[in-house]
Amino acid sequence: MPDTPIDPVPQQPVLVRSAFGDDFKWGVATAAYQIEGAHDAAGKGTSIWDVFSARKGKVKKQHNGCTACDFFNRYPDDLLLMQTMGIPNFRFSLSWSRLLPGGTGAVNHAGVSYYDRLIDHCLELGITPWMTLYHWDLPQALEERGGWANRDIVSWFGEYAALCARKFGDRVKHWMVLNEPMVFTGAGYFLGVHAPGRRGFGSFIPAVHHAAMCQAEGGRILRSILPEAEIGTTFSCSHIEPLRQQEKDILAARRVDALLNRLFLEPALGLGYPLEELKFMRRIEKHMKPGDEEALKYNFDFIGIQNYTREVVKYAFWTPFMQANLIPAKKRGVPHTLMNWEVYPEGMYHLLHKYNQYSGIPKLIITENGAAFADEVRHGKVHDPKRIDFLDRYLQQVLRAKQEGVKVHGYFVWSFVDNFEWAEGYDPRFGLVHVDFDTQKRTIKSSGYWYQHFLKS
Ligand code: BGC
Repeated sequence: MPDTPIDPVPQQPVLVRSAFGDDFKWGVATAAYQIEGAHDAAGKGTSIWDVFSARKGKVKKQHNGCTACDFFNRYPDDLLLMQTMGIPNFRFSLSWSRLLPGGTGAVNHAGVSYYDRLIDHCLELGITPWMTLYHWDLPQALEERGGWANRDIVSWFGEYAALCARKFGDRVKHWMVLNEPMVFTGAGYFLGVHAPGRRGFGSFIPAVHHAAMCQAEGGRILRSILPEAEIGTTFSCSHIEPLRQQEKDILAARRVDALLNRLFLEPALGLGYPLEELKFMRRIEKHMKPGDEEALKYNFDFIGIQNYTREVVKYAFWTPFMQANLIPAKKRGVPHTLMNWEVYPEGMYHLLHKYNQYSGIPKLIITENGAAFADEVRHGKVHDPKRIDFLDRYLQQVLRAKQEGVKVHGYFVWSFVDNFEWAEGYDPRFGLVHVDFDTQKRTIKSSGYWYQHFLKS
């Protein structure tokens, strides 16, 4: 049994939940590879993250997600803990290689049964499941056939999306197609710092186009099988500012904005890729076939905003293609988290207004926001006032935007539990609940109690 929260409120919430309205969706978010563990249990196939993290020097301290939070085995207790904390919505992703070990073809029934049990358990506890189809853990078998750089992924992904919709759509009403395509193509296929560790334009450019195609195709497939479902997709977004109010910095900031904030969203809205600002991306047109422009469009019911920081941009002659550099928070001497990401709550406010202006977006939901610190257990407790301050101040900005008419309808904290933070391993802790990775003991942090009290307010 998990610990039951009994602590007094460590810090009285300034905000009250009711100010956001009764139908505002509150939740926590996670992803399969970051929490499930059981990497080769019950018929699961290998994913690109299993392979990448086993390679020397790819993940800090040679950490991997083989066990992670062992959520695969511990989900009943973890969901009970979530219920005790009063969290009404749970965003998690499906592991493609747990359901289709070879990426396509034979279905792993043990994988289907795991997600069946997980969903049923959520519903029994009064927790609404929000499901992401793809949060970065591509089956290795598909990577060996070219992965996201192979156009066939549009049909592989379609097969997977249809399977998920048919198996779970009777109980799951909220869906997200992709998690942050800019990050998994950029970090995985251009910079090589995430799985599968490929570098350069050769893979990146087609990967971008195919991910954008899958984004829309995934939406269409879910809709065709689940006409009543609420279907969205998620984007990494940062508020971007030029270092100085000088033309070169302003233009550099615009390029970064086009790359980080607009590249995947605008084709879905029917606006095409922002190639005016991103001249080097024009080679993407070579990968486009007749009809693709139309196929990139999909009317999502909501757009998931995932925001952690702001970026300050400086013109940089020597930086290839972008001619822009991001100035790290530490260098700017501003408050930052363990990821070296600036704590800048007003950035959330500006972003919400920015996305609100797109007429094609019916609804915004903040599907991730949170902060990493090096939290420790002391005398059985985890005191994390910086995270409380972070969440409180970001939420104030969400409320401010909402009160000004921005169509924001939900907020999910990243993350429920400390978990595998990709190439950074286990050191950056994002959870409302602390995990001791040696014993798998869970300890609700002060921020977890804070969220609990906020949700009850
Ligand atoms: C991702 C998460 C990740 C978080 C913090 C988001 O980009 O969706 O998987 O853990 O940011 O880095």
